[in-house]
Amino acid sequence: MVFGDRLKRRASPFKIEGGNDMKIVRNKAKEIIMIILLRFFCAHVHLREDDEEDLLMTDVVHFSDPYEYVTAMGNTKNPISTGPEAIAYKKKKIEKHKPGFKAIPTIMLTNSTTVETIRKAHRLGIKVVKYMPAGTTTNTEKGYIPLYDLIRTKGDVLREMQKRKMILSTHMELVRFPGATEDIHYLYREEEAIPYLEALIKVFPKLKIIVEHASTKKMIEFVKAAPAHVFATLTLQHALFHKGYVFDKNLKVKDPLYLCLPCLKEIEDTLAVREAMVSGNPKFFFGTDDAPHRLYKKMGPKPPSGISTPGIVAIALLCKIFEEANALKRLENFAARFGAKAYGLSLKGWKKMKVAKEPWTVAESYNDIVPLMSGETLDWQLVGEVFDLTH
Ligand code: DOR
Ligand code: ZN
Repeated sequence: MVFGDRLKRRASPFKIEGGNDMKIVRNKAKEIIMIILLRFFCAHVHLREDDEEDLLMTDVVHFSDPYEYVTAMGNTKNPISTGPEAIAYKKKKIEKHKPGFKAIPTIMLTNSTTVETIRKAHRLGIKVVKYMPAGTTTNTEKGYIPLYDLIRTKGDVLREMQKRKMILSTHMELVRFPGATEDIHYLYREEEAIPYLEALIKVFPKLKIIVEHASTKKMIEFVKAAPAHVFATLTLQHALFHKGYVFDKNLKVKDPLYLCLPCLKEIEDTLAVREAMVSGNPKFFFGTDDAPHRLYKKMGPKPPSGISTPGIVAIALLCKIFEEANALKRLENFAARFGAKAYGLSLKGWKKMKVAKEPWTVAESYNDIVPLMSGETLDWQLVGEVFDLTH
């Protein structure tokens, strides 16, 4: 690709930590042809283990060139629930496949988490504790705590995290009301979780909380109005698709490829997610919830929840969403800076990348995984090498 135009430095409406210095490159006809910006921070991907490990390596690692950091959630078959386990997983598995890959390790909050677990993990450098309520999604059947029991059973653990300024990264869904025998339908689980989130914020007023993959207008509105240390990550599937893709008219799953949890919601929810994404509000930042499952399992009798969104697909979709909203200048904030700020990550040494408006077609499948937008042609792609940022 040849670029006649000189790069122009443009003023950003949202400056944080030294400002947003992404560049938008146009051709002679003033059409946008490339952007140069910080690599992204995807604050939510899923690790796998054993027979599923190759899914992680292909999906999360090999397609992750657009990422400077990812947050690695440890809901493996045997939950990664202590500091030493998280560090060992990172060193032995992730870095074995891609040395230097910057995965931020997390530990899962399970029945066995104690104050001592937190102290030890924190001493080993763990900053993030992931909580998935019992029965919400992949591998959470055993060993996890129901949302309505969290404060009662793990108050001391949460207090210790608050004291140490750690992050509670949480899947916010209520699967069942206390004492009930029936599950709440997927569609209503997130909104039913809001009162429990409210209680968490009240009881632990300084605990940094990230509501992962917010998927409803109600949750977005709640997070907007919550104190400044309450954030939400947003995914592409929730910003682009609605319940009609996954459920039939009786609200039964019709296409397991679109089954993720929290599930896809109403169109007004989708629009609310997209609006929050491009809004420039630092409470909302990027996390794909990249959760690969093999096709044979997805098409089996009990389809697992989770959508594979490899990094190279994610950047293309983010560029499209921000371009359509006429908000490209806010993309770097959403996809890199806001997450870094919430996590307290330095931008020093953070690499930049070039993303060009050059169409490419997403594979139908790889490794028996069907990614989001499989077979579709997308407009944007990472080109050339990522390069060092000199501040
Ligand atoms: O749909 C999902 N799949 N949501 C999650 O939170 C977990 C994930 C997985 O690990 O497969
Ligand atoms: Zn997830």
